[in-house]
Amino acid sequence: MSIDVEKILRPTDNPFPPFQPKYMMLAGGEEMVIRQVSREDIPDILKHVEPLLHVERDYYDVVAARLYSELLAYYRYRVQDEYVLVAQINGELVAVVNGRSLSKDVGMSYHTVALRRGLRVGAHAFASKMEYHFDILGQKEVLIVAESPIGFRRWMIEYELEKRFHMAHELGGVPSWSLTKELFNKARATLVVGRRPVPKHLLEKAKAAILPPTDPPKAPADLLAATRSMYDSTGTALMSQRWQQEGNA
Ligand SMILES: CC(C)(COP(=O)(O)OP(=O)(O)OC[C@H]1O[C@@H](n2cnc3c(N)ncnc32)[C@H](O)[C@@H]1OP(=O)(O)O)[C@@H](O)C(=O)NCCC(=O)NCCS
Repeated sequence: MSIDVEKILRPTDNPFPPFQPKYMMLAGGEEMVIRQVSREDIPDILKHVEPLLHVERDYYDVVAARLYSELLAYYRYRVQDEYVLVAQINGELVAVVNGRSLSKDVGMSYHTVALRRGLRVGAHAFASKMEYHFDILGQKEVLIVAESPIGFRRWMIEYELEKRFHMAHELGGVPSWSLTKELFNKARATLVVGRRPVPKHLLEKAKAAILPPTDPPKAPADLLAATRSMYDSTGTALMSQRWQQEGNA
């Protein structure tokens, strides 16, 4: 008797209403669109997450490794009830957020990654996913963790999250915090921004293609270069040391 193993391994997603796209004006004057993407879009996102595996700063490496795995599992049907939102400026990918529904009442926040720094794009994308859990899915609480001190400041401190240390988070290894509907409503006026519907030209541009981030976080070219250049503004000390090491001096 033959068994279709794929039918057993592949979880069946529950039907959920979609996230309605929104847009907002950033501090720099650019307009950012946040929208839900589908499975077919995942390969276009993965290629911009992969380079972050090598960026230790601000724990991009840990978060990128986990996000990569979550996106891949979504793409290859190895996770149930996951959703992915992207933030784009003129088509350019500037943030990715994802999560899933644990039950009718409880949401599981996975990750938030900002690919452009200093504009709160990560904070806005995070707020959008919380909006999805509470306003669209009608959930009562969302379980959240943070890997980085910036994440801790953005979520635990800014939203005044409650401890749920007795509850396991799917990301593992760290205790859960909770954003309740009450806390979210309290934060709404200050932390949740954006408007709907998204003007046609902005949405069309965003949907046309997920363009590469223009200034993503990068690993330093040479871990010691910054220190050395403090003493040698022309960089020759660094070069001569390299030549010496290579036996070309
Ligand atoms: C956490 C995160 C999503 C927040 O994104 P964000 O809201 O867009 O904020 P940024 O990361 O750009 O900036 C955070 C702070 O660092 C500062 N900063 C750090 N590096 C910076 C850079 N290269 N350029 C400008 N600002 C920078 C900002 O000034 C800002 O300060 P503030 O909190 O006083 O406003 C983002 O830092 C990130 O992706 N971190 C790595 C992954 C991670 O930790 N995710 C959260 C765990 S789920």
